[in-house]
Amino acid sequence: MRGQWLKQLCGGLTVIVGLATQSLAATPSQTTPARVGPVLVNVEARAGQDLSGAWHWSVDPYRDGLAGFHGAEAGPGHRRHDDVDVDAVTRANPQALYEYDMRRSPVVHLPASWISHDETMRYYDGLVWYQRTFTATKTPGQRAFLRFGAADYVARVYLNGKPVGIHEGGFTPFAFEVTSLLRTGENQVTVGVDSVRSADTVPPTVTDWETYGGLTRPVRLVLTPATYIDDAWVRLGDDGRLRATVRLQGTRPGDTEVRVRIPALSLTLKGRTGADGSWTGDAAEPSALKRWSPEQPALYEVTVEAGEDRLVDRIGFRTLEVKGHDILLNGKPVFLRGISLHEEELGKNPTRAMTPGAARALLGEVKHGLHGNFVRLAHYPHSEVMTRMADELGLLVWSEIPVYWRVNFARGETLETARRMLAENILRDRNRASIAFWSVANETPVSDARNAFLARLAADARALDDTRLVTAALLIDRVQEKGQSVMVVKDPLVSHLDVAAVNTYNGWYSDDALADLPGIGWRNDTGKPLVFSEFGADAQAGFHEPGLKRKFSEEFQAEYHRQTLAMSEKVPSLRGLSPWVLKDFRSPRRQHPVYQQGWNRKGLLSETGQRKQAFDVLAEHYRKLEARQAHTEQARAP
Ligand code: GCU
Repeated sequence: MRGQWLKQLCGGLTVIVGLATQSLAATPSQTTPARVGPVLVNVEARAGQDLSGAWHWSVDPYRDGLAGFHGAEAGPGHRRHDDVDVDAVTRANPQALYEYDMRRSPVVHLPASWISHDETMRYYDGLVWYQRTFTATKTPGQRAFLRFGAADYVARVYLNGKPVGIHEGGFTPFAFEVTSLLRTGENQVTVGVDSVRSADTVPPTVTDWETYGGLTRPVRLVLTPATYIDDAWVRLGDDGRLRATVRLQGTRPGDTEVRVRIPALSLTLKGRTGADGSWTGDAAEPSALKRWSPEQPALYEVTVEAGEDRLVDRIGFRTLEVKGHDILLNGKPVFLRGISLHEEELGKNPTRAMTPGAARALLGEVKHGLHGNFVRLAHYPHSEVMTRMADELGLLVWSEIPVYWRVNFARGETLETARRMLAENILRDRNRASIAFWSVANETPVSDARNAFLARLAADARALDDTRLVTAALLIDRVQEKGQSVMVVKDPLVSHLDVAAVNTYNGWYSDDALADLPGIGWRNDTGKPLVFSEFGADAQAGFHEPGLKRKFSEEFQAEYHRQTLAMSEKVPSLRGLSPWVLKDFRSPRRQHPVYQQGWNRKGLLSETGQRKQAFDVLAEHYRKLEARQAHTEQARAP
């Protein structure tokens, strides 16, 4: 294993997460899931301070703040992260030369992507420095961390002028310990965020969504006792046992008493941690427990206590499994009435700042507008705000990491990056009852390297979480059989998945007449449930052409959905749908001057939330499925 994976330098801590090199052959370290930095699960429930608000920013297109003249290390006149008041220094020493001054640079409100900072940043792709000060009090024995909800794509973090760590990946949380660097009084945090991707990143350069560079989720200073609860996972196993696993970190993680309490169920699990600081306990499912489901999204207050640390969360309990072609939720077959969506709030100028209000506006349309019970959060881990909202509203969730299109599957570091993203995602959200699927990829071309890469991820997901289903959005093959077109699920990866999901765009990316769609056959010999993870057609809201029904008209889109849904009704193993897509979203690949203007218009809602005709087509279809499901359950009820 060459290169740097996780390195600690004496004095100031510098933690580099990513950038490893190794071959794809399964080695022992590859059988255990990727290691991640501090998890600090349920971060909102912890002591500390939210550093959202006013931050100074400064663009650095040539990365001058990292490497200076002829590539030498950046000098004091360019190092944006230095702990210096440039104005004061130059007053004291008029000879001094600084070609930046973070404290007098423009100010923006974070979290937000820089594409909304000002019009010059709309298409900026590169390095931007952010800085703010905050006041803290150092308490002996207390630990301190800087925790980031997400930074797209590579983040370099400094505290009081000292480097604390680098993180690669735009959609998952990361944290660095800063106990030794924090000071009582004013502190200065600086973050250099670089959005540039390459053929080796995850995702690679080309996607079908906008790059929202920057600090797009909250930054927090987290304070913990010397020994703290780093991770706590409480779930219902499909063996009907309620299980809790707690992992302590810090000065004395071992041989420490842990208690997990669910007061509403008068349930307490307790025990002592082992030498590695972890403990697992279980109990029979309390008879009074109301299982979580979309129809009844019951959440329980759960308290985890260990030593001086205490966390309170709201958690739902449910079981999920597959049986033949059926997906069983709490032991009962369920049909997923879903839709796909990107993490982009409603409005003409979104900036990927997902607030509870923005999440409720989007998911509320799925739950109440479409009669849906499922959302595919594409193509990367969305904010925890979104998954907690799905818990509250009662929507099953498909959560995905951005192994998207042509990833460099043959490169060991790229695999390690993807593995770490998966682990960061699962460790953040495995207490979310709503999450049903961990998806390891979207529309990736079949090859040996790809199959091995994705099989590795699927195994990691199972090792990290045995209570959810593993899947991926696959490409589908089309063959001719006795003069009929037949869609065939052939992808060898399915053998590593619980559910086979396919993206199908007959009638949009093919010239099939819409009326012919129901006549297209489907063959799924995998023995597993099938889900249509994507299908869709663009329409510009308000463009009506009842006669000609050209592509991009609302009428075409509505008819496309009508016929595709009719086709879906003929697929015996189909157990779910997540059409592409809830809302029009920004994509640099969509530049039709009349209908697109930089937006993918496959939304059933326009970017401002205007419902298109197709919205009602899908809503009507789901209302019928919902009634059918309720009827079946009534008939099945003792
Ligand atoms: C693909 C892809 C999406 C894309 C969509 C489209 O299937 O997964 O990311 O936006 O198709 O073409 O609109």
